[in-house]
Amino acid sequence: MDFSIKAFNTKNAIAEHKTGCVVVGVFENSKLSTQAKLLDTKGIISTALKSGDITGKAGSSLLVHAAAGHAKRILLVGLGPEMGISDRNLTSAVQSVARSLASLGCADALLALPLDTIQGRDAAWGLRTLVMTLRESVYRSDGLKSKKEDAINGVKRLTIGVDGSAQTEARKTLAQSIALANGLDLSKTLGNLPPNICTPTYLANTAKKLAKDYKLGVEVLDRKQLEALKMGSFLSVTQGSEQPPKFIVLKHMGGKPKDAPVVLVGKGITFDTGGISLKPGAGMDEMKYDMCGAGSVLGTFRAIAEMQLKLNVIGVIPTCENMPSGRATRPGDIVTSMSGQTIEILNTDAEGRLILCDALTYVERFKPAAVIDIATLTGACVTALGHHNTGLFTRHDEAHDALANELLSAGKSSNDTAWRMPIEDAYQEQLKSNFADIANIGGPPGGSITAACFLERFTRKYTWAHLDIAGTAWKGGAAKGATGRPVPLLTSFLLQRAK
Ligand code: BES
Ligand code: MN
Ligand code: ZN
Repeated sequence: MDFSIKAFNTKNAIAEHKTGCVVVGVFENSKLSTQAKLLDTKGIISTALKSGDITGKAGSSLLVHAAAGHAKRILLVGLGPEMGISDRNLTSAVQSVARSLASLGCADALLALPLDTIQGRDAAWGLRTLVMTLRESVYRSDGLKSKKEDAINGVKRLTIGVDGSAQTEARKTLAQSIALANGLDLSKTLGNLPPNICTPTYLANTAKKLAKDYKLGVEVLDRKQLEALKMGSFLSVTQGSEQPPKFIVLKHMGGKPKDAPVVLVGKGITFDTGGISLKPGAGMDEMKYDMCGAGSVLGTFRAIAEMQLKLNVIGVIPTCENMPSGRATRPGDIVTSMSGQTIEILNTDAEGRLILCDALTYVERFKPAAVIDIATLTGACVTALGHHNTGLFTRHDEAHDALANELLSAGKSSNDTAWRMPIEDAYQEQLKSNFADIANIGGPPGGSITAACFLERFTRKYTWAHLDIAGTAWKGGAAKGATGRPVPLLTSFLLQRAK
């Protein structure tokens, strides 16, 4: 799907644009959008509205042939009530446009929608939502099916009409939106790949390819180097697996050389069986998504590299499988983390925190401005927040409140929201062990919070936030698939930091 921006300076420019299809919005109660009025010189649109063939409800649509102006067709799309277009109504309108365009027998279309009049949002938001929604509609996850779907019709080239005065800004926003969509695609594709293909080595090769394509720094540590670093906690998780573990470090140094970097740490369990604390069989395939934190780091790097973001960002990915075997870690084993803290592993299925804690110690060397870890960490987070919000955890002092607020607002502005959860000493009590410094589980109450409390003990040398994406990284059921979240939140946060 190719996008371009076209500025319309004169009144009849929309009618004069030659295209297979022009898309304009209409409202409930037979009201026309500004663009629809400009196109309605022969009254075709008002007549269509009066006929009752389109209600104007958000997402309703009507295709009119042999239309006015130089367009072969007019696609009318409902935007809901005229008084303020809501986020939801814009999204359902664009989804409906995407469905219609997918089956048209023309190659190009002009989208002339009132993207700058979305309630409580700026023009950039409207344009970004349009591009992201259209790109989402053409994303495919059936690459491994042996029979490809029949070649279908559909619009490939999309021109987005904007006011003349807005075109420079719109071109910038478009470039950013495409970069973000490309990052989101990578994150989804990695998530959806089967665990026999998307191994730790595959993730490492993906990072190397990104580095080559965008001139990023990359380093991949192997088991021997992890042993030398004394990452006893990370190594205990990979023990039962035939696949070698990898520790990926990716560097986008777009800022001044001396500026402290933002560090993103992504959980990269390419398959989580639970280990000796084996998970039940039903739905276990979905534990291929346990590398979605890692996928979101790679996706975010894809986006910010294409944007040439002026900020120093380092991505760190500890990645391995969690498998049972004769060599696997047992419940009751005690390991020594890179930080020196000893950990009693009471449940081998609480493995995410075990690989992350060593990565969180490793990143101290970067003297980071902030560290954000991203992990499909706990089923308890899904229970707490469902599938709408990512869990956001930080300590509760001034610096961390500020970081939390930055992330919350980045989530709001990118349709990829998070909800803040507590970290308090009272919960830390649950992690007491009789035999080691800390236990790796804290019992059922507040499971996502005690997991965050575990990580917290390894992050006291810098400002840190934890994103639990267990409920948001993928969808189950009939529409099973990775969402690419929280690439939009992270990218939007980094864009704001680069300002
Ligand atoms: N990867 C899982 C978390 C998960 C489970 C995410 C289900 C999404 C859906 C994680 O490694 C895990 O197994 N966590 C355990 C922790 C428990 C043993 C304390 C969990 O949530 O059950
Ligand atoms: Mn697990
Ligand atoms: Zn896991």
